[in-house]
Amino acid sequence: LIIKTIINFNFFHKEMPAVNAQEKEILKISVLGAAGGIGQSLSLLLKSNAGFLLPHETSTHIRLSLYDVNKDAIVGTAADLSHIDTPITTTAHYPDDSNGGIGQCLSNASVVIIPAGVPRKPGMSRDDLIGVNAKIIKSLGEDIAKYCDLNKVHVLVISNPINSLVPLLTNTLIRSDANGNSNIESRVYGITQLDLVRSSTFVQQLNGFKSNTSPVIPVIGGHSGDTIIPVFSTLERDPEYANLLDNGMRLKMVHRVQYGGDEIVKAKNGNGSATLSMAYAGFKIAAKFIDLLVGNTDTIDDIVMYVPLTNRNHQEIAPGSNELRSRYINDLLYFSIPLSINRNGIKKIHYEILENLDSYERDTLLPICLKTLEGNIETGLKLV
Ligand code: NAI
Repeated sequence: LIIKTIINFNFFHKEMPAVNAQEKEILKISVLGAAGGIGQSLSLLLKSNAGFLLPHETSTHIRLSLYDVNKDAIVGTAADLSHIDTPITTTAHYPDDSNGGIGQCLSNASVVIIPAGVPRKPGMSRDDLIGVNAKIIKSLGEDIAKYCDLNKVHVLVISNPINSLVPLLTNTLIRSDANGNSNIESRVYGITQLDLVRSSTFVQQLNGFKSNTSPVIPVIGGHSGDTIIPVFSTLERDPEYANLLDNGMRLKMVHRVQYGGDEIVKAKNGNGSATLSMAYAGFKIAAKFIDLLVGNTDTIDDIVMYVPLTNRNHQEIAPGSNELRSRYINDLLYFSIPLSINRNGIKKIHYEILENLDSYERDTLLPICLKTLEGNIETGLKLV
């Protein structure tokens, strides 16, 4: 038994080479506002699952760099996560820490995810958050411009109101990059994935969870009330779900997706808005970027986000699409729409979804969305 133990011990040591993260190429993901409801849950999902996305033979090490203005909460969150046995390292940062604060958190980041800001209370709309959250996003934008490589970093915004904060952040970054020639505006994205997650869930609930597959329903427009357009007409092409929604039910489902966030705000009764389902939705998006950046794919093709449609020189972010943009969305400058994304940012905007809307989506939902969205975008731009 003793000999066997010694043999096993040696064997074990031969099979387990020491891993030194410093010798590997670091893929750094920074989460700003990481000690909050969404930030903590999203960081947990990243710490527990991101390693599974790494290719088998890889020289990449994922580092989670967590920042929050709440010092005790962020130090505690990072320490807690660091005990999870996945090969991902975590670091904690807060203002004026001895470790370089937000500068250290952001330097060399490939992806920055922002759930920093206040959430809604009952009776509030997302637009009511603009006063506080615009200041936070603007200041974080200035830090991103200062410490990140604007030629490379992908910036993902969760904080609300997305419809106004993405224009604000994009233009804060462009202004800070006045003498540079980065194409940062093609790498700023608002995460609207929770609307897709809700649409899929509500359809499955209606169907009694009979199917083992979750339907994918694109949701376009914006991320607030009547700017949210769930494109349920796509279900008609899915044999499992075609004919599920008659006209009355369709109206109810559209309304439920548009105001689904209120269900959570009401249920939490003053203690915030969606955090767990948002973290799930945020991780779905983050996972696609990890896939891209570790080389599992050259392009992300199955993603919907709220993005700038033109660059600082008023040219199309994805060349060749100005005709479709002006035909369908009145030359709007920001919109949530299916995208193809590569390492350089947005490669293609799939305006064809607008050509395939049915008459209810095109003639009723879209005009209402455009009107509200135009105002929301203007609000964000005025705050730059
Ligand atoms: P929370 O209050 O639990 O967390 C926010 C965190 O941000 C706190 O830890 C706070 O200390 C931190 N923070 C505040 N100012 C900061 C700054 N300048 N720098 C870094 N961190 C800062 O809020 P929760 O529930 O996590 O929500 C965060 C945001 O996400 C809200 O604006 C909310 O409306 C939005 N949200 C977005 C959704 C979407 O679908 N995109 C869905 C649900 C919420």
